[in-house]
Amino acid sequence: MTDDPRTWDDSLLRAALDAHPDLRWGPFAVIPSTGSTNADAADQVREGAPEGFAVVADEQTQGRGRLDRAWSSPSGAGLAVSLVLRPVVAESAWGWLPLLAGLAVVEALQGLGVPAALTWPNDVMVDGPAHDGGPGPRKLGGILAERVEDAVVVGIGINTDLDLDELPVGRATSTRLEGARVRREELLVAILDRLRDRYTTWQLAGGDAVRSGAADAYAERCLMVGRPVRASLPGGEVLEGTAVRIGSDGALVVATDDGAERAVSAGDVLLVR
Ligand code: BTN
Repeated sequence: MTDDPRTWDDSLLRAALDAHPDLRWGPFAVIPSTGSTNADAADQVREGAPEGFAVVADEQTQGRGRLDRAWSSPSGAGLAVSLVLRPVVAESAWGWLPLLAGLAVVEALQGLGVPAALTWPNDVMVDGPAHDGGPGPRKLGGILAERVEDAVVVGIGINTDLDLDELPVGRATSTRLEGARVRREELLVAILDRLRDRYTTWQLAGGDAVRSGAADAYAERCLMVGRPVRASLPGGEVLEGTAVRIGSDGALVVATDDGAERAVSAGDVLLVR
């Protein structure tokens, strides 16, 4: 095993997977460099990749984020993985998949001693000001879920070893900067473990996130619930109010000053300090 966290160690991944024989993820394609693991996984879906297939890359040169943003993945400094899911529950429930993934990531990070939390819909954050003194919370990672044919590709990006001078934006952070020495191989297996649990329970509940317990678990870890937010909606409208809960459909419910409640199911939502 190498001590350098930037050098991917396949034997560590195998050992961590062997310690969890019931995980049922894979096969795994681990590659040194690619444009985007989501694009690669989507290609594999078109070739018939099964549920659980995963692409992991040491480096992405064209990593994609939500809302057409770019996602920076310098070599070895982060976890970049895309999973193929073929849910058996009704498609109307699939909107919960990226939230389940975000929840699983936060649970995995918390289990490894990283004080991670969620902002809606699935940003992985650490509460507190940015490292450059600007407003927080700090962004540790994110999820990009994309529908491909009759599957969903769930892409997960987590900054692990980035140092201050490598942060792509002032509000970014990494597990290293949060004081945790987290190996990507172990983080991946911890995420797969939590996601298997959340995904299975949710499917057994017929895709009902409330009944499966995911909605409450998500709300408990969401920095926005109970706090003032500003939502930039797709049509250009800006909505301000207090986030009150996560709806059964995964929308963020925002109470406005006039006492009305609005469900935000798309757009960019920020905490207002
Ligand atoms: C976001 O916060 O905007 C989502 C970022 C998602 C990044 C991951 S890294 C693995 C996968 N491949 C991509 O191109 N994007 C996702």
